[in-house]
Amino acid sequence: MKGTAEVAVVGMGYVGIPLACLLARAGHQVMGIDIDDKRVEAINARKLPLLGKEPDLPELLAEQLSEGKLRASVDFAFCKQVEAIFICVDTPIGEDKIPRFDHLLAAVMQVGKNLSEGSLVVIESTIAPGTMRSRIIPILEKTSGLKAGETLFVAHCPERVMSGKLLYNLQNMDRIVGGLDDRSTEIAMGWYRKIVKGKLHPTDMTTAETVKTTENAYRDVQIAFANEVGTICEVLGLDAFEVRELVNTCPGRSMLFPGAGVGGHCLPKDSWLLAFGGKEANPRLIPLARQVNDSMPEHVAELARKLIADAGLEEERLCIAIMGLSYLEDSGDIRNAPAKTVIDSLSGEHDIIAHDPYVSSLEGVEITVDIDDILGRADCAIFMTKHQEYLSLDIVEIAKKMRHALIVDGRNIFDRKTAREAGIHYTGVGKG
Ligand SMILES: NC(=O)c1ccc[n+]([C@@H]2O[C@H](COP(=O)([O-])OP(=O)(O)OC[C@H]3O[C@@H](n4cnc5c(N)ncnc54)[C@H](O)[C@@H]3O)[C@@H](O)[C@H]2O)c1
Repeated sequence: MKGTAEVAVVGMGYVGIPLACLLARAGHQVMGIDIDDKRVEAINARKLPLLGKEPDLPELLAEQLSEGKLRASVDFAFCKQVEAIFICVDTPIGEDKIPRFDHLLAAVMQVGKNLSEGSLVVIESTIAPGTMRSRIIPILEKTSGLKAGETLFVAHCPERVMSGKLLYNLQNMDRIVGGLDDRSTEIAMGWYRKIVKGKLHPTDMTTAETVKTTENAYRDVQIAFANEVGTICEVLGLDAFEVRELVNTCPGRSMLFPGAGVGGHCLPKDSWLLAFGGKEANPRLIPLARQVNDSMPEHVAELARKLIADAGLEEERLCIAIMGLSYLEDSGDIRNAPAKTVIDSLSGEHDIIAHDPYVSSLEGVEITVDIDDILGRADCAIFMTKHQEYLSLDIVEIAKKMRHALIVDGRNIFDRKTAREAGIHYTGVGKG
């Protein structure tokens, strides 16, 4: 690497890699730091260690590495040489729905031990409201011996990217920049101005933490509402998607789609981060919405069982095709993917095979990219992801290829009337 690193990005995952690449392209010497030596090796070998398609990112990574603007390392000592450190480490929740910030706090501790006076530390990871004040700043001050707001500048700038659109989102979305004080906010904004075309919104740290967790909790609650309407429509014999469309003709209504479940790294946990930060208010709606969304994959498995029973096949061990494994359309990201829960639920009773254009491996499941092959072997197909490839499928033609024409539509891919008029055993989320 030429010269001295000016910026360090700690945590080289979905968030850290595109950030490091854009900072390098903006003209800085960037050191990407990660504890995973295999990931560091892959990055230095110009391989993008992320699942799914990420437009332009593999090329940008290779370009910045070959120009010597970016490098990856496991050594936190590089933090001593830099002006700014962006921490983008994963922040999961435990089985008990309590935040597990061990990775983040370990990274903060290592950064703190290697800080120089006058540096800026930005936390990009999503955190529960209050974490900057109660956990991050005390650790930074203790391990560095510096004083936040005097000899050290600190900000929280939560990330908003989505898998499949990492570079686009990072450059084009507005960002919330919450500094410890005005000076910290100003310095952090200066860095983001170099890479973000969206608007920058200055605020304080706790507001920034609360905005990020609230925007995801808001979406989660809205999805849970749609899911509940979906299950109500099922028992009423209605199509929830028609109901939704007509509801949205009323001004001020913007109902979302019901579906087979919520996955990914962020939505299933950020509601819990918000609820944890505000636990003294005894939040009830947000945890309940989480439970509704968490129950959807098992609901899909139940829809399949009922369809099989209605077709008189409940005594048989069938071949079930899971169509789509990733949690998001046209992505290979299977973190918290609802399809995994459906597979776990049904695999004791039936044989499971799967199709996904972007996911090549999932323990214990045979995966193919050949739609004709999988449908030809299947008795029942469960559509779990709205991949582009499925949208052009003709349900009547699909049914002809299958051993038994049993179709569970978890993502409103097919028309209920067409399916039923063709004599297909068809059900789905919101398809009464
Ligand atoms: N993935 C998204 O789409 C997205 C969107 C918005 C916000 N976020 C938030 O950004 C944060 C990072 O998410 P991600 O998806 O990039 O996670 P990730 O799992 O893809 O990457 C995290 C990286 O941090 C590394 N790491 C773990 N502990 C470390 C340590 N002590 N020191 C150095 N590196 C360490 C891991 O090895 C990994 O490479 C999370 O808080 C997440 O909620 C993610």
